[in-house]
Amino acid sequence: MLGPLLLTASRSDRMRRFVGHTPMTRPVVDRFIAGDALPDALAAVRALTAQGIDVTLDHLGEDVTDPAQAHRTRDAYLELLAALGAEGLGDRAEVSVKLSAFGQSLPGGHDLALAGARAVCEAAAAIGTTVTLDMEDHTTVDSTLAILSVLRRDFPRTGAVLQAALFRTERDVRTLTAEGSRVRLVKGAYKEPPAVAHQRKADVDRAYARCLAVLMAGDGYPMIGSHDPRIIDLTRRLAERHGRTPDSYEFQMLYGIRTAEQRRLAAEEGRKVRAYVPYGSDWYGYFMRRLAERPANLTFFLRSFTTR
Ligand code: FDA
Repeated sequence: MLGPLLLTASRSDRMRRFVGHTPMTRPVVDRFIAGDALPDALAAVRALTAQGIDVTLDHLGEDVTDPAQAHRTRDAYLELLAALGAEGLGDRAEVSVKLSAFGQSLPGGHDLALAGARAVCEAAAAIGTTVTLDMEDHTTVDSTLAILSVLRRDFPRTGAVLQAALFRTERDVRTLTAEGSRVRLVKGAYKEPPAVAHQRKADVDRAYARCLAVLMAGDGYPMIGSHDPRIIDLTRRLAERHGRTPDSYEFQMLYGIRTAEQRRLAAEEGRKVRAYVPYGSDWYGYFMRRLAERPANLTFFLRSFTTR
């Protein structure tokens, strides 16, 4: 029950103000967020890459309400990519973008988001790296996949996230796999209605396994965005069955979650592992989704109010 409540709260401005202005929140937030500013993100990148873990960086923000904010998002990514290039990290770090932070939901937002994402793809290509389009709630999927398709004409390594929770994803996985796209498969972090998405965790897990089988058998580049040990094990078996080399797919996990397993997969098993590193001051929505995924995180969070 708590998960859906927290996902509703993740979209509440009142809750955003309350949680954002409560100093006790900070230590808990720091577990999931690399920091507020670019130097914090770069420090996290250096630490992770030194441990053999590649990264994808997310400049936090979503649901912008005017074009000026959308332009600020684009500029933040351009600054990030310039900094990664200056440190020679183009072969270890890519970026993840949420198109709602590029204005996707504003009037005329599809074109605005496409223009912003294109500028980021150009900057990424210039330093030898690429971009993955995060996926937000189901109302954004058509626009995001249409933007992916246009971007891939000029930047074929651009990737997208698909969410196993959505019924449509089994079809979308087949389409993107046939096109040879990079696809990050995740379970899905948004509250979705029963008309479009599986509601029971067991059904989402089964849908994930079916989509993973299609991805691993196909010609695309699978990015397994999951911390679930059963999914990781299934990936190992599918990789073996299809004769995939270690550089033909990768495991991806979120910053601060199952970090020992991230290191173990990279160092002991020689797997390609990428950590998703969020940074920036607009952490509320991202943070609340992490609480919703795991009730134990909420206990940890609430305890921070009473143990000062
Ligand atoms: P599951 O939820 O079953 O968790 C398996 C195990 O992982 C848990 O038992 C626990 O040990 C650990 N775990 C999972 N979540 C945790 C948490 N919050 N705190 C502590 N431990 C946790 N979603 C989306 O809708 N759009 C997107 O663009 C993305 N992008 C994205 C990128 C990457 C790299 C990852 C790994 C995930 C996403 N997600 C996402 C989030 C995704 O949809 C999903 O909500 C989470 O990954 C949790 O699902 P798992 O597959 O980890 O399984």
